[in-house]
Amino acid sequence: MSHPQQNDSTTVVIENCRSDFPALQQEINGQPLVYLDSAASAQQPACVIDAVADYQHHNHANVHRGVHTLSHRATDAYEGARDKIQAFINAASRREIVLTSGTTESINLVAQSYCRPRLGPGNKILISHLEHHSNIVPWQLVCEQTGAELVVTPMDDAGQLDLAAFNQMLSNEVRIVSIGHVSNALGTINPIKDIVAQAHALDIPVLIDGAQGVPHLPIDVQDLGCDFYAFSGHKMFGPTGVGVLYGRESLLEEMPPYQGGGDMILEVSFEGTTYNDLPHKFEAGTPNISGVVGMGAAIDYLQSIGVSRIAQYEHDLLEYMTQQLARVDGIRLIGTATDKASVQSFLLDDIHPHDVGTILDHQGIAIRTGHHCAMPVMDYFGIPGTARASLALYNNVDDVDRLVAGLDKAKQIFA
Ligand code: ALA
Repeated sequence: MSHPQQNDSTTVVIENCRSDFPALQQEINGQPLVYLDSAASAQQPACVIDAVADYQHHNHANVHRGVHTLSHRATDAYEGARDKIQAFINAASRREIVLTSGTTESINLVAQSYCRPRLGPGNKILISHLEHHSNIVPWQLVCEQTGAELVVTPMDDAGQLDLAAFNQMLSNEVRIVSIGHVSNALGTINPIKDIVAQAHALDIPVLIDGAQGVPHLPIDVQDLGCDFYAFSGHKMFGPTGVGVLYGRESLLEEMPPYQGGGDMILEVSFEGTTYNDLPHKFEAGTPNISGVVGMGAAIDYLQSIGVSRIAQYEHDLLEYMTQQLARVDGIRLIGTATDKASVQSFLLDDIHPHDVGTILDHQGIAIRTGHHCAMPVMDYFGIPGTARASLALYNNVDDVDRLVAGLDKAKQIFA
């Protein structure tokens, strides 16, 4: 990416997007905010904030339960968002879109509803060394419950999966593969289609943790071929506390409910209960209706720009950021895979990452520091944590330049 800014149409459209985000129009510690922590949680455009506020002002009631006008409006808004999500990830049916509280709940749902009834001693769950804790701990729980074993595909020093090792670890004992699309700590994009093809050759289903994939890459679940795909609203410019589990309909049909309660039933008596159809079988209790409405608005927003254009823009910006960071004296880049999205982790001299983050915050620059909920990744590199800058469509080369200047200042302070 050149500096000053490119003039091609992609850049012009995306550069204009920054003004859509009210939170980015403020000063922090006397400096215009540079927000480089979207991998933790992305900011929301005004259209998402307004859609949620409009719903709350005019249309709120419970869904699927009322004959009155507000309940119809709320149901239409909620189910309309489900349709948008289906189209956005190209799922074959709206029955495959389960609305959850986020990626974490989506993965726990599969662990408890798909794996727990099926697995026992001698079975294996295959993940990778790159995973976020939410794609580790739910499987450890189900291993404790069933006697199954958790096995881990290794990675290399660049933060790339060893696909040959992955292939060798596949066997009839493996009952599910669960892999992140994009590593939140290192930014590595995993070769999902290859992984799915290898696993499917042995009829092993594959779950993809897409929390860091959906905001940055066009997602077509039918093209990827995965059986489950989990993601969160707040990483893709929507509200917190809402997310999605895409599941292949034939698998979801076989799975028992994950939680019991209202809305997931057709008929209840003390003798027994008949469960609701997909996807409602997995949506017990009053859902996060306004969150789902906001997620629908976030999808409208992303589609108005075009996810492929966003991916290209961010790819170029990440290249620029990586080049600029690599020039900083004393920096060690952590995570140097060939195929990456959005994220660069680093260490600066022997300055503790929390100190780097604090000095940057004093200059109005927000990054994340620590283990990024990926302690095994940190263990691999023999470090307690990193400083991590993560990009989204509203960032630009000026943000990167401010980051680099901020790091120079941190070096001066610690010299
Ligand atoms: N998983 C989030 C992150 O990477 C919180 O920061």
